[in-house]
Amino acid sequence: MTSVNTEKLSSARFAEATDAFVEEFTSSVNFDCRMAQQDIQGSLAHAAMLCKIGILSDQELSDIQCGLQQISTEIERGEFVWSVKQEDVHMNIEARLTELIGIAGKKLHTGRSRNDQVATDIRLYLRQAIGTILDQLQRLQLALLNLAEREADTIMPGFTHLQVAQPVTFGHHLMAWFEMLCRDKERLQDCSKRINVMPLGAAALAGTSYPIDRYMTAELLGFSRPSNNSLDSVSDRDFAIEFTAAGSLIMLHLSRFSEELVLWTSAQFNFIEIPDAFCTGSSIMPQKKNPDVPELVRGKSGRVAGHLMSLLMLMKSQPLAYNKDNQEDKEPLFDTVDTLINSLRAFADMMPNIKPKRANMYQAAKRGFATATDLADYLVRKGMAFRDAHEVVGQAVRLGLDTDRDLSELSLPELQAFSGTINVDVFDTLKLEGSVASRKHIGGTAPETVRQAITTARAQL
Ligand code: ARG
Repeated sequence: MTSVNTEKLSSARFAEATDAFVEEFTSSVNFDCRMAQQDIQGSLAHAAMLCKIGILSDQELSDIQCGLQQISTEIERGEFVWSVKQEDVHMNIEARLTELIGIAGKKLHTGRSRNDQVATDIRLYLRQAIGTILDQLQRLQLALLNLAEREADTIMPGFTHLQVAQPVTFGHHLMAWFEMLCRDKERLQDCSKRINVMPLGAAALAGTSYPIDRYMTAELLGFSRPSNNSLDSVSDRDFAIEFTAAGSLIMLHLSRFSEELVLWTSAQFNFIEIPDAFCTGSSIMPQKKNPDVPELVRGKSGRVAGHLMSLLMLMKSQPLAYNKDNQEDKEPLFDTVDTLINSLRAFADMMPNIKPKRANMYQAAKRGFATATDLADYLVRKGMAFRDAHEVVGQAVRLGLDTDRDLSELSLPELQAFSGTINVDVFDTLKLEGSVASRKHIGGTAPETVRQAITTARAQL
């Protein structure tokens, strides 16, 4: 019997039809249809190569090109009919191509398997997604730079243990966020190097007996080179795990920014205002304005970390080469991409609209004895050992606490009672402005240093 059942994949080998539920259960078209354009791109390169080595005629190549072009348009217009019967994006497109152009459509899969095809599609997809993510990261970085520049002189409390520690500038704090994003970009760029290696040509697992030209397809698809080992090529998903790990760190950073924004908008801190466009109200409490965007991003960071775990567990103990398990890589990966792009976009849109409440930040720094370390350093400069200075300042803070005053509000005689070395110049040290201005080494919080850091960062962006 030579009749080909076009309803079902590999049907000649099967004596009975697939169970309807199993068909649904094993299909991936509902989610992998997202890689349709990458699949077409891969097929166009493969077909051009097959033609060059004489497996397809010029006419067949041209038919395949026209057919794929039409399919691409049908998909873009939402007119393409996806079928679970055809299992996945690859078979759906191939079946439609054969419907459109006949026998040439059936030749396209020569020297190729869905195993190398899907690995190629994911890499093409991720390459593009990383471009979009990097664009959004860049937008957010630019927004942070602009805000940091405006707030280079703004004094706020710096915290350790969420207790007021030492005064810093708001610009410096924002530049700390900026630095985290620099590393995030580097990580994405680094994993791109390994993503951009082409599996196509590995076929099912062992390569193919046709004289394929993998350098040609790699070049046509913009890959840096063909992969080295066919077994590894169809089974490797390290690249997806690396990407998701880099994505988890981006989301982790956004969750930290979010947490601070949420704290800062609370009445207890009252450091910033997030514009109404990025907040919502409460259905019951009329006075409420909730920082929804940062809260939601903070929440979403969990799902990406979860996807990283899914992918790690997906690959754990898998024998070579391709296993159907790998079909499970796509949903976590796609959701990671969506979550990253949307969260970064929300942040990049929101940051330029953040309104700092400078007076409140200043007062908070003043209330927290933030210049206590500066007083100790002052005493050290006057010849006291640091441990003794630490003790003396502790006593001064005690007096401030008991009389509800900041160190800068104690009188000179009161301070001199703690150490005779103290003069009137101590008040320059005890002022918040003096404290931040003195930290002007590289990496410090002084306004002039922050401005320098911004200039350097701008040049590098
Ligand atoms: N839908 C499959 C996946 O996502 C494509 C590869 C299928 N290969 C196979 N031998 N069943 O991994």
